[in-house]
Amino acid sequence: MPPLVFAGEARELTAALAQAAAGRAFVLQAGDCAESFHDFAAVTIREKLKILLQMAAVLTWGATLPVVKVGRMAGQFVKPRSSPTERVGDLELPSFRGHMVNGEAPTPEARTPDPERMLEGYHQSAATLNLLRAFTKGGFADLQRVQGWNQEFVATSREGRRYEQTAAEIERALRFMAACGIEVSAAEQLRQVTLWTSHEGLLLDYEEALTRRDSLTGDLYDCSAHMLWIGQRTRRIDGAHVEFFAGVKNPLGVKLGPDASAAEVLALCERLNPERIPGRLTLITRLGAERIADLLPPLLASVREAGHPAVWICDPMHANVYTTSSGRKTRHFDTIMAELEGFFAAHEAEGTWPGGVHLEFTGDDVTECLGGSDRVGEDELDARYMTLCDPRLNGRQSLELAFRVAERMRARR
Ligand code: PEP
Ligand code: CO
Repeated sequence: MPPLVFAGEARELTAALAQAAAGRAFVLQAGDCAESFHDFAAVTIREKLKILLQMAAVLTWGATLPVVKVGRMAGQFVKPRSSPTERVGDLELPSFRGHMVNGEAPTPEARTPDPERMLEGYHQSAATLNLLRAFTKGGFADLQRVQGWNQEFVATSREGRRYEQTAAEIERALRFMAACGIEVSAAEQLRQVTLWTSHEGLLLDYEEALTRRDSLTGDLYDCSAHMLWIGQRTRRIDGAHVEFFAGVKNPLGVKLGPDASAAEVLALCERLNPERIPGRLTLITRLGAERIADLLPPLLASVREAGHPAVWICDPMHANVYTTSSGRKTRHFDTIMAELEGFFAAHEAEGTWPGGVHLEFTGDDVTECLGGSDRVGEDELDARYMTLCDPRLNGRQSLELAFRVAERMRARR
């Protein structure tokens, strides 16, 4: 099969991320926990992109810096699991591992891995990427439209007033540009955006098949996505995933959970970025709201002292999951915000740059995460709990988070 992305694009993303490593850009990496073969439709893709663009516009204002937009999209089909099996009633079944491996239905047939699923995943990724490229270059991403959607959110959300001032300031900035003679709807920078793709590089059979030698440089690139990350469960320094990704030139991410020691992190930096290329390596911390204040500063200090040019981004989702008494996996909006606050505070204390955020969200109106201005409660989770894996922020919770982070960054500057 032809590659999905071109090596030159992966190099461009490395350059964009290098700006984030140097404190001159902010990264928004976001999308589904697990994309679904059943959700493969233009509306799903469009609604997710719409929220992502809205968040990016607000964050650009907050940071007064370019926002590097990276989707967990067009290939996020494989999931690591803490347990290889799962108990459903009387049955002990293999765990669901994402649609590129098996099905989620609780039957032995559905849970049997099927390699044909890699082909389906490839085709869905290709079609999704094609539509994303069309939307982002064809006028859908026009900043004035995006701002219109944000104003609608502010006008219709329960706590909207809180964000009115931010939305109004962006509006003034657009009018100011227009008054200066910039034709806002014609300027390419305001009409088009670049959205990069990423997923967890977990299924090495698939990643290897899409790894190709670049005809321009002779280097190997994993052309299944622009950026790949190594998950918390597969980041062992002597493991297969680190070995594989050390050999390709794409920009890489590594998830760092609460057990990550400074020595391990430095070993990963040395192994994955021995030439210390800015933008090559993004460290995605997911430490938990309660522990980030203790755990993050020593990691920041060690990497800084070793002179590694890492991009630091915060995943406030994965260490803040708990199961309700009715058995639903969830996360609370306030806990997510608390980990983000800990992230900004730790970087302020260490003099390092809080380079971005990594989120799980959907454009749909789901009830999977608690709280937010719509105050989703535990008893409401069953209403629209649709995720295949982890609980995602819904569209409104995502926007609220973006406004809050933007205000936080604004205060900092
Ligand atoms: C994920 O990003 O969906 C995930 C499983 O994360 P982690 O590897 O950090 O647990
Ligand atoms: Co997840």
